[in-house]
Amino acid sequence: MKATGTASAAERDRILSDNLQLHRMTARVYDTVHPHMRNSFEQRLQTKDIRRMVHAFAAEAPRRVLDLGCGTGNLTVQFLEEGATVDGVDMSAEMLDVLRSKLERVPAWRGRYRVHQRDIEGFLASNAGEFEIVSMSSVAHHLADYLETLEALAQRITPGGFLYLVHEPAHRTEMTRSSFALRRVWSIIPRGLDRLLRHTRMDSTLHREWEAQDTTFADFHYHRDGISMSAISQRLMPHGFGLAEASRYNAHETSLVSWLDNHWCSRFRYEQFQRTYFRAIWRRV
Ligand SMILES: C[S@@+](CC[C@H](N)C(=O)[O-])C[C@H]1O[C@@H](n2cnc3c(N)ncnc32)[C@H](O)[C@@H]1O
Repeated sequence: MKATGTASAAERDRILSDNLQLHRMTARVYDTVHPHMRNSFEQRLQTKDIRRMVHAFAAEAPRRVLDLGCGTGNLTVQFLEEGATVDGVDMSAEMLDVLRSKLERVPAWRGRYRVHQRDIEGFLASNAGEFEIVSMSSVAHHLADYLETLEALAQRITPGGFLYLVHEPAHRTEMTRSSFALRRVWSIIPRGLDRLLRHTRMDSTLHREWEAQDTTFADFHYHRDGISMSAISQRLMPHGFGLAEASRYNAHETSLVSWLDNHWCSRFRYEQFQRTYFRAIWRRV
């Protein structure tokens, strides 16, 4: 396992530059090729979580959200829809161009968002703001030292506030190990179905192009064993955080297969590294 807190300066630079390159190449097609952007199963999970967090505060109370690695706006847009104010931070100019074009289309959101083109560490060093909610969707696995970054973030979350992580690869040691043969057999069915159905969602040339590009260090999960929810909990506990809610799910290309595997036939769900993701909400007392 690549332990956090051990990345050298050279490794950090490489992770940042590979990330920039990857998202520069893929920003234009990001929303089309990434299932979590359009898959109704994952979108509903996120929407439910976002509503729960935003509406935990009185309507007149500030609901300032810091969406780190906001990209093309998956969470940013949903937080704005729920009435929060959002600071979106991302180092990729190309991803932020896509986000800005979405934000500018909705006059009602004007004045409720700010977009910062910065790397997360640089942003935290230069901005002393406090937030009721800090979120990251599919970002922790891109960071050199996610535990260190999350600990630094924890200090910026107001009492009663939330830290939200979603679409992070579950750690190898934190998945259900199943010896139940039927589950192994079942795991073949969603994968096959997904492949068949993918073509109804995405042009196959686009998918091949995407797969060819998506092989850099940046997206090959620097943390080869996944992201540890329990390590995060331990690191946050001294700052007054407790895990309020969490679950794992298998990520799939199509909504139908996601519902089938994670909801309708969840008893047979087979957890596998880099297929099984988690969502988690920590709350500060
Ligand atoms: C997989 S995308 C996720 C985007 C969005 N949150 C979502 O749910 O679709 C990862 C995003 O994190 C950004 N990113 C990765 N490492 C970063 C860092 N150290 N500082 C700022 N942004 C970073 C990338 O530019 C990219 O937009």
